[in-house]
Formats: sequence, C-alpha cells, structure tokens
Amino acid sequence: MIGTSIAFTLNGRPVTLPAGTSPTTSVLDWLRASGLTGTKEGCAEGDCGACTVVLEEAGGARTPINACLAMLGQMQGRAIRTVEGLRAPDGGPHPIQRAMAESDGTQCGFCTPGIVMTAWAHAREGGEVHEALAGNLCRCTGYRPILDVFATLADDGLAAPALPDPAPARFEAPGQVFHLPATLPDLLALRAAHPEAWLLAGGTDLGLRVSDHRERPPAIICLLNVPELHRLEARPEAIEAGAAVPYGRLLALFRREAGFGPYAALLARLGSRQIRGLGTLGGNLGTASPIGDALPPLLALGATVTLASQAGTRTLPVQDFLLGYRKNALAPGEVILSVTLPRPAADALFACEKISKRHDQDIATVGAALLLRLDGGVVAEARLAFGGVGPAAARAPRAEAALTGRPFDAAAVNDAAEALMQDIAPLSDWRGTAAYRRLVAQGLLHRLHLRATQPDMPADIMEVV
Ligand SMILES: Cc1cc2nc3c(=O)[nH]c(=O)nc-3n(C[C@H](O)[C@H](O)[C@H](O)COP(=O)(O)OP(=O)(O)OC[C@H]3O[C@@H](n4cnc5c(N)ncnc54)[C@H](O)[C@@H]3O)c2cc1C
Ligand code: FES
Ligand code: FES
Repeated sequence: MIGTSIAFTLNGRPVTLPAGTSPTTSVLDWLRASGLTGTKEGCAEGDCGACTVVLEEAGGARTPINACLAMLGQMQGRAIRTVEGLRAPDGGPHPIQRAMAESDGTQCGFCTPGIVMTAWAHAREGGEVHEALAGNLCRCTGYRPILDVFATLADDGLAAPALPDPAPARFEAPGQVFHLPATLPDLLALRAAHPEAWLLAGGTDLGLRVSDHRERPPAIICLLNVPELHRLEARPEAIEAGAAVPYGRLLALFRREAGFGPYAALLARLGSRQIRGLGTLGGNLGTASPIGDALPPLLALGATVTLASQAGTRTLPVQDFLLGYRKNALAPGEVILSVTLPRPAADALFACEKISKRHDQDIATVGAALLLRLDGGVVAEARLAFGGVGPAAARAPRAEAALTGRPFDAAAVNDAAEALMQDIAPLSDWRGTAAYRRLVAQGLLHRLHLRATQPDMPADIMEVV
C-alpha cells in the first residue's frame, strides 16, 4: 500500500501529519509551529546549527542534521529527537543540559539547544570534538566552556525507537506532490513520467531553495528509500558508492580503507557534521558546481559514474559527466545510480586540497587533487584536477603533460605550475579575484608536491595549531 500521510517518530512518540500538509515545509518551521520552539532558527541556511536536531537511526547511530534544510517529506519513516526530547531518568534536565548550565557554557542561550543536540549525538558517535562542533556557531559564550562540557560527555544509552521498513509513499498538498519510491524501477518510472520534478537526495542544496528562497516546488521525487542508491561497497580495486549515501557514511569508510585517507581528510571539511549527515556525492555531481569539494578527487582518481533510466544503465568517466557551469550529462529520465572510485595503487601519490576563507563549514575558493603514478622515480601518469578556477571542476592537461615522463621534483612542478596557467580560466567573485585564484592554484600544486613527497608533513593545518 502507498502511504499518503507523512508519519515519523518524534522524541520517541509516533506522529502522523494531517493529509495535505506541505511535504516541503522545513522540519524547523513545523517544529516551531507545533510549539516545539526549543529548536531555534538562526540563519535558515544550514550554517549556524541553531536548528540542530538528531536522526535516531536503525541500529542506534545518531546523525545530527539541520532542521532548517530538511523537509517533512524526507522524515517519513524516520525518528527525530529535539531538545525537548532529552531528559534525565528522573524527568529533570538531561546530564548534557545540566553540564552546559553548570559549566557556564551558555550565555544568551540561543545556540544552546543546537549545541546540546550536537553533543548528544557526539556522546554516542565520538570522533574529533572540533569536527563535531564545526556546524554550531556560538557568538557570545566563547567555546572554552563548551569544550569543557564536550570533554565530559557520556552516552546515555538511550535505545533508538524501532523504525518501520521503508514503504512507497506519495504525499499531496495543494499544488504539490512528493513521491517517495521504495524500488529502483518505481524511481525510474517516476523520473520518466515527471521530468520536471526535483530529484531530492539529502536536500542540502535543494533545501536552501525552499528554506532560504521560499520556493514551493510542485513535484519532488525523493531518493531516500531506494536501496540501490544506498549501497556502499569496498572492493580491493575500488569503492562503489550509491549516489544517495550520505557523506557521513562515506567519510567513515574512506577513513578505514587504504588509499582513501586524503579524500577522507577533505570530506571532513565539507560543510559540517550536520551537512554531511544528509548531503551526498550524487548531489555534488547533480549540482555540478565548479566548487563542489568532492569533484576534483573524483577526477584525479579516474572515478566513473553510472546513470540509470528505464532504457538501462550507462557508465561514463566523471570527466565526461561534468559538462560546464552547473551542467552535467544527465539525459531526461536519468538518475545518478552510483559512483565507482578506483583505489589508488599502494605506491601512487594521492593528495587533496581545499582553500577557503574559514577552515570549517565554508565553500572552497579553490580545490585541487593530484594522483601520480611513479615508475622508477619518473612520473608515468599524472592526473591533476582543480575546482573553482573555471566553469566546472576539470583536469589540467597541460600541467599533467609538464609532469609526465620526468622525475617528480621541484623543477617539474615549477614547469607544471607555469603550464597550469593555460589550463585554467578563473573568474573574480567575492571569494577571490581571478589573479588570487591563479596564484592559489599554483601554490596548491607546490603544496601537493610537498604533501606527496614529505609524508611527515601534517595532513591538515589543524594538526599543528
Ligand atoms: C551550510 C552548507 C554548507 C555546505 N558546504 C559545502 C562544502 O563545504 N563543500 C561542498 O562541496 N558543498 C557544500 N554544500 C553544498 C551541498 O552540501 C553539496 O553540494 C551536497 O553534495 C549536495 O548533496 P545533496 O544530497 O544534499 O543534494 P540535493 O540538494 O538533494 O540535490 C542537489 C542537486 O543534485 C541533484 N541530484 C541529487 N542526487 C541525484 C541523483 N542521484 N541523480 C541525479 N541528480 C541528483 C538534485 O536533483 C539537485 O539538482 C553546502 C551546503 C550547505 C547548505
Ligand atoms: S537555522 Fe542556522 S543552520 Fe539551521
Ligand atoms: S550562548 Fe549566545 S550564541 Fe551561544
């Protein structure tokens, strides 16, 4: 049977929304209109974390997300916990809430509910505190007392509520329809029938159009429940990632898998933990932004993308998928099914870079990735890719040629940096002038050389501060 009312679990209790509720209402707007005003609205753009709520996943994992970007339709069959849902066993404030108050971790208190929810997820998930907090902005307390609280966190052991199996659903509201297919054939049939519909994965790009620009899309096809888009498999020669696997899952795998460490370090800087909880590789490819962080490494690795439609599947190099400024090779009726990332050979040099105004939670000004295969100290193959220096993320063929067939030394890198100036055509915008981007691209080439040849160099500036 096809579900017609949005149903989810909120703070451990089932909720079914009245038929006709707009499926693109943001979770934040709905919570606040429902009287759950503990969750705050700061920016409505995914940047400040005041709206952080936590998805309680099957198996107990906790994923913080930005309620301002998530749409109600995306919550079908899922479990959300808000700050109102945290309690101590005696019904009083949760130990994290108490610790925030007692450590003076809260002054005006506007950011506090979001920080408490981030902390609640972090208590279970662990990892770097800096990384956990990068998506939560506090303007007045200062982070030291908040860090004190994070140092004492303990998992409260609360079990996740049971979640129903994903079932197909279709939600209608005046002038709107939201499809939630549960199989690939259903998805492809819907795609063929509704070419104008928004294809929604994590919604960290599309959610902005609803939350910030107040658009009300007439039709949405959501990819959340199609199992083929959520497969994640590591094989000896490659990782194959379903297009709708969130970055958080990818990052955990990249950290474990040989050869993908540099890509993991880069993904750890893509947005925040909240953005990575929803955002996907398929969305980065779908948007085809010239500054998509995930794209230069895909180009350097020689990744391929598999597209599916009712006519079958086709696989093409990512290089041929990215056609220009926010333009990709998706034909009508097609969706991105998966991405295959060849594993760099054990003796290959692989490095990734991102230059942005802030270290965390910022869009790149310039991004770069390099994969080099050396044979007896001589470059046998160079794959060099840049973002932010042209209409699309792209390889740098002249710079690659300047490296190939030579020892990978400073002289070759100098020549490649010179040749690179013919490969790129940056524009000036508020993130940087064209001249600055040219300089940065050259500098990154030198840094990639240092990274690749001096393995003891810290992988990230944060390791030396
Ligand atoms: C606060 C904030 C910070 C951000 N920081 C970064 C950052 O540091 N680096 C960065 O690169 N990006 C960043 N982004 C942008 C965004 O998170 C990424 O582009 C992300 O990869 C989008 O994925 P998504 O699943 O959320 O895409 P969605 O918003 O769901 O979709 C984006 C586009 O891709 C299409 N699409 C999605 N999946 C498919 C598919 N399977 N087949 C065909 N088309 C598809 C959609 O139709 C849509 O056109 C940020 C966004 C926000 C709001
Ligand atoms: S309100 Fe700022 S991230 Fe959602
Ligand atoms: S306590 Fe005021 S913004 Fe954090």
